[in-house]
Amino acid sequence: MTPPRPSPRALFIVLEGIDGSGTTTQLELLAGHLRARGRQVLPTREPSGGPIGKLLRGILLGQHDTVGARPVDGRVMALLFAADRRDHLAREIEPALAAGDDVVSDRYVLSSLAYQAVEADRPWVERLADGIRTPDLTILLDVPIAVAADRRQRAGRPTERYDADGTQERVRENYRRLASEPARWGKVTTLDASGTVQEVHAAIAVEIDRLMDREGPIS
Ligand code: TMP
Repeated sequence: MTPPRPSPRALFIVLEGIDGSGTTTQLELLAGHLRARGRQVLPTREPSGGPIGKLLRGILLGQHDTVGARPVDGRVMALLFAADRRDHLAREIEPALAAGDDVVSDRYVLSSLAYQAVEADRPWVERLADGIRTPDLTILLDVPIAVAADRRQRAGRPTERYDADGTQERVRENYRRLASEPARWGKVTTLDASGTVQEVHAAIAVEIDRLMDREGPIS
């Protein structure tokens, strides 16, 4: 009798990049790729669909910017993103991983380090993330800001808090710096995301297959 095959360890994979880099499109394709390899997958995103994530979406769209009111402070944004992440982990990510499902997330901690570092002190933003789960792999979709802005415009995306070119340039630089730093937040692989959807997907699939081959089944 053949022994039952050991099940592979559930993986936590994150896609990151500036607005318009393609993380949302690529996340669906990545989930499909994993399913085609026989895995159960939870696709998810931050800001999450939970209560703090919903509040954040409204703030990002300027829904609370009444005439004469100041915008929400950058440190408050950092606290809300950090709180949403812990809520997301506790209610969605950890239960799915514990059930043996892979989790693929459109944004996670690197978003806070890249974006909130523009409007708050980075060491403090890092401290807010102390002790959180590290992804097995983060893929940074790197794209020039002009290409990303063009994609956002074509997609008819509403203007959001961080859309200004100057901000996106700083966020992109922060991401690139993060990707070259020691792997405190897990392994980060940078891919050129200026190609077509299929080209970028193929490059992501290569990285994921490499990760799964490295992992192998656990016994
Ligand atoms: P989205 O447009 O990819 O849905 O993301 C929403 C915006 O929120 C995007 O501009 C990036 C920003 N963001 C942060 O600034 N910090 C974070 O921690 C996360 C998760 C997103």
